[in-house]
Amino acid sequence: MTRSVSIVIWCIWAVLIAGLTVGSAPDHAAVFTRDAVASDHAAASQAGAEILAAGGNAADAAAATMLALGVVNPASSGLGGGGFALYYSAEDASLTFLDFRERAPRASTRTMFDREGPRPPGPANALSQLGGLAVGVPGEPAGIEALVQRFGRLSLDKVVAPALRLAEQGFVVSEALAAMGNVFEAQLREDPVMSTWNLEEGATLKRSSLARVLRAFAQKGAAVIYGGVIGQEMVAAVQRHGGIMTLDDLRAYRVRTRKPLEATAFGHRWVTAPPPSAGGFTMVQSLLILQEAVGEDPSYGPSLLHAMVESWKGPFLDRQRYFGDPDQVILPIARMLEASRIRRRADLVDDDRAHPASDYDMPIEWTRNQLATPDDAGTSHLCVVDGEGNVASVTTTVNLPFGARFTGGGIVLNDEMDDFASAVGAANAFELVGGARNLPGPWKRPVSTMSPTIVLSGEKPVLCIGASGGSRIVTATQQVAMNILLHDMQADEAVTAPRIHHQGFPETLRVETLAPLSSALLDALRERGHDIAPIHNVANVQAIEIEHAPTRMLHAVSDPRKGGRPAGH
Ligand code: GLY
Repeated sequence: MTRSVSIVIWCIWAVLIAGLTVGSAPDHAAVFTRDAVASDHAAASQAGAEILAAGGNAADAAAATMLALGVVNPASSGLGGGGFALYYSAEDASLTFLDFRERAPRASTRTMFDREGPRPPGPANALSQLGGLAVGVPGEPAGIEALVQRFGRLSLDKVVAPALRLAEQGFVVSEALAAMGNVFEAQLREDPVMSTWNLEEGATLKRSSLARVLRAFAQKGAAVIYGGVIGQEMVAAVQRHGGIMTLDDLRAYRVRTRKPLEATAFGHRWVTAPPPSAGGFTMVQSLLILQEAVGEDPSYGPSLLHAMVESWKGPFLDRQRYFGDPDQVILPIARMLEASRIRRRADLVDDDRAHPASDYDMPIEWTRNQLATPDDAGTSHLCVVDGEGNVASVTTTVNLPFGARFTGGGIVLNDEMDDFASAVGAANAFELVGGARNLPGPWKRPVSTMSPTIVLSGEKPVLCIGASGGSRIVTATQQVAMNILLHDMQADEAVTAPRIHHQGFPETLRVETLAPLSSALLDALRERGHDIAPIHNVANVQAIEIEHAPTRMLHAVSDPRKGGRPAGH
């Protein structure tokens, strides 16, 4: 994709996906004593809370919330997408990461998007973003089933019930969904299902074709989507739109269980997403660099914000150079996080001036064998804490709004293929530049920024956190977590506080117009040489802070930037 096209899409995205208004959702924060759900839609949080009240645990409630999100905000996530779940089990203090990211159809090739041609009208219209080739094999149905079967205690049909009710009886179209529907209206009009939707804010929308899928999923599980009539309809729709996904691709889809990435920094244990996410890695490396550069107890102010921006530049370069599907390329994570390398990057951080990102580039020396292939080869975040202390941190996505902007088998299909590099050095919709290791290939998972995170103090989880919003997911997640854990902000204040974003390339520091930094902070950053540009908002964060003493308190916050609301007991 050319840079100018990418920037246009980024701007559309900045205004839409990443959020709409702040301060318009007075109920966006709440304190509970037993259990809590924070998602970016009130009805979805309520679905999770209903399941908790019915005896479900955090896994059941997270699955119910995901399913409900897919009904009430089809622009952001759903059964046609995929995601990551990080699960803390209180029984044995274990942390498990489920990767149900979409993967490329088997017939995918490195050059499948490396061509320019006539484009259909409307926004986000590259081959990897709109239409059949954009669709990765969905992982969400298998991911939800795995979460419930491995960690839940209710049957799938009970977990599906709240979402099914929303689909059958209808729900009120939110401000966020209405705004996204407005921008993509002409493209949605082309689809037989989405063209029937009234997406005006406040309208009641029923989703009868999705209700049919949910009923089948409740009874028979993911196999009905990966094998049966629904799968056949999905494949037929993808192929009709010029795609290459087959029934074999669907049947062969597998959830991967991975070891979460973790680091100790600022007195806490940060547990987060491993590859194929680069988000968790970016946060972990940034925290380690920051700790070296500013000490263990930094106060909020221009020096810290400046150092944070500098700390993001190196990890985003590592992402470009090294990241790909961990099942298909070896990732030198330990080498990239070596203490000496962290120290070298921290030593480069000058308090009085910004460095160009290239100053932080530190290639790793590898032998040919280390580079060899190993043998085996629109987004929403939610947090759940249950009464037993289990925690689920889940990020789920169809990538750009309404995914590839068509449905198959009644399901909105993702356009996750845009998270691959269309060519070496080409930028995606979020201006993330991809390297050779992230070119498309058979059954490959594209690199992600999604960073579902749980932070522990000693043995106890103290924060469940994550975000939606493309490349800004990780920088937003990190800032809010630091606000809570280092700067003693209340969870609500921490989420609503102004945020900044830098991803190495472009060499621009984005600051929110929705929640503006003070002019004193802006001046201090400008004086250090940062090229500052406005952005509507930096992602949407959901968080639950877990206070254990003197009384158990769950501070649940849904980012008002997207209009969500938490629920619980
Ligand atoms: N599609 C957004 C992400 O995975 O980062």
